[in-house]
Amino acid sequence: MPSPNPAAMDFLLTRRSRPSKTLTGPAPDRETLETLLTAAARSPDHGKLEPWRFVVLQGAALERMAAAVEVAGQRLGKDEDAVAKAAAAFRDSPLCVAVIEVQKPSEKIPAIEQTYSAGAVCLALLNAALASGWGANWLSGWASHDRQFLTDALSLSDTESLAGFIHIGTETSTPPDRPRPDLSKITTWVEA
Ligand SMILES: Cc1cc2nc3c(=O)[nH]c(=O)nc-3n(C[C@H](O)[C@H](O)[C@H](O)COP(=O)(O)O)c2cc1C
Repeated sequence: MPSPNPAAMDFLLTRRSRPSKTLTGPAPDRETLETLLTAAARSPDHGKLEPWRFVVLQGAALERMAAAVEVAGQRLGKDEDAVAKAAAAFRDSPLCVAVIEVQKPSEKIPAIEQTYSAGAVCLALLNAALASGWGANWLSGWASHDRQFLTDALSLSDTESLAGFIHIGTETSTPPDRPRPDLSKITTWVEA
């Protein structure tokens, strides 16, 4: 017989992100964040490769990220508004965890499965934060796809990429839910 966990299911059926621009301090302290990271690292990972790692960005590090976005925006010829918005995401963030995908050499586990695992870590961290009562949001942004920015701002190696910036803090407002998928349109039942 199944052994249900109704509280966990209620969370999963109602969870939603809090836009990062609505987050404020305080952010989780180190001990609290370590629990969230521990939950996130408990994610499906084919072959136990651990193809991910965390960089916790706080205080002056967030300002440094914002400045690096501005440099990248200028180099890439991005328009002023796009640069200001992307820089503000870091400048105004209470705390941000960069989830780094770390591709591991493997004859058995394809690269894409390592990418999926890094995505799973992002969602697990987001959900751990939300389930603990924090506001949280998974962002990427144009800069996160720029190799030079990743090298300059986060010192990523060539085998690493940015799976997500997970912003975590105190929510100031609960946003209305967004429309959710129509299950009948995305599900095929195969019985014969
Ligand atoms: C890989 C990834 C990157 C994302 N990047 C952004 C982003 O840069 N800006 C943004 O507004 N939303 C971004 N989103 C969307 C939000 O994180 C999120 O899906 C949306 O706010 C609704 O989240 P919820 O289903 O948890 O409520 C991204 C989502 C994913 C999966």
